[in-house]
Amino acid sequence: MSSVLEPARDPGPVTAEAPSNIAFIKYWGARDLKGPVPFNRSLSMTLDACRSICSASPLADGEDDEIVWLEEPGDGGSGAAAEAPPAFVERTRRHLDRLREWSRHTAAPYTGGFRIATGNTFPAAAGIASSASGFTALTLAVTAAMGFDLPPRTLSALSRSSGSGSAARSAYGGYVEWPDGDDNSAVQVLDEDAWQLCDVVAVVETGAKKVSSRDGHQLAVSSPYFAPRLAALEERLEQVRLALRERDFEALGPAVEEEGIDLHLIAMSSRPPVYYWTPGTIEVLAAVRDLRADGVAAYATMDAGANVHVICQPADEARVAERLVALGSVERVLRDRTGGPPAWRRGAGL
Ligand code: DP6
Repeated sequence: MSSVLEPARDPGPVTAEAPSNIAFIKYWGARDLKGPVPFNRSLSMTLDACRSICSASPLADGEDDEIVWLEEPGDGGSGAAAEAPPAFVERTRRHLDRLREWSRHTAAPYTGGFRIATGNTFPAAAGIASSASGFTALTLAVTAAMGFDLPPRTLSALSRSSGSGSAARSAYGGYVEWPDGDDNSAVQVLDEDAWQLCDVVAVVETGAKKVSSRDGHQLAVSSPYFAPRLAALEERLEQVRLALRERDFEALGPAVEEEGIDLHLIAMSSRPPVYYWTPGTIEVLAAVRDLRADGVAAYATMDAGANVHVICQPADEARVAERLVALGSVERVLRDRTGGPPAWRRGAGL
């Protein structure tokens, strides 16, 4: 039997949606940014409302790729075309080339161009990983438009090859682990129906962050606390895995919050140091402590940015959101939950 991947249908326009994710155990520090190859395993919760939507339409032979950025597409968003930032267009073009190159090793090499229209259901710069959902949606839309039905582990590996490590985890719903080393695909550890949790995002900063995750990954190893963190991380990861298996929120929460702080401990002690927090971050962290003192089980985590993701159970979501939105430094609050896997359909209408 041939192991060369066969297409399932003829090329045609496709629209794909892919979820973002919030890491409980963070990918922070890369052995090689090209893979990327992380120093440590990471584990995340897939989100539901925060998604990227991407349509891919094959173009006639000889036509160049065309890339259109849409403002908050889908229900409720304007879906209007906006000027795409040049860096975004450049990264998207490079990934299209990579996907065409990948197809050369299949039974149906694709050499033509694509019209890509893409956007996020969440506001830009809200501190939510748009590259994770964006590159997964792009990878899924383009490969489906070429005629392929990718298994999730191939989607994970191909999305990650965009350079966005967190994209490796957006190929699955629920809770997802991305191994370290050269193993390039993530795996699901628990599905979204097994345990529903909430992520209440307190947006304290809407400007773009000054230091990219890419630079942060590179600087991480210069922190004197990087090696001790790696040495202790396996135990924390095991604590998170066990808490997920047992649906034990009181065991999960503290591990998630300690891990969120640790990423910033490494960033702030890197040489030169990287400060992602703002005074608003501290205000939210203090409010989360107050919520716990009042008997509400809520725990904070942050990615490489100032905004705070507050993880809680559905019964506490409204109380958490109400407390956070009342804080002076919180511009808005986004309410999200554990979400399902990416999906695609035929047609290019967003
Ligand atoms: C801090 O390589 O995924 O979110 O491509 O900019 O999203 P972007 O960066 P990526 O690293 C982000 C790492 C993190 C933690 C995590 O998601 O594990």
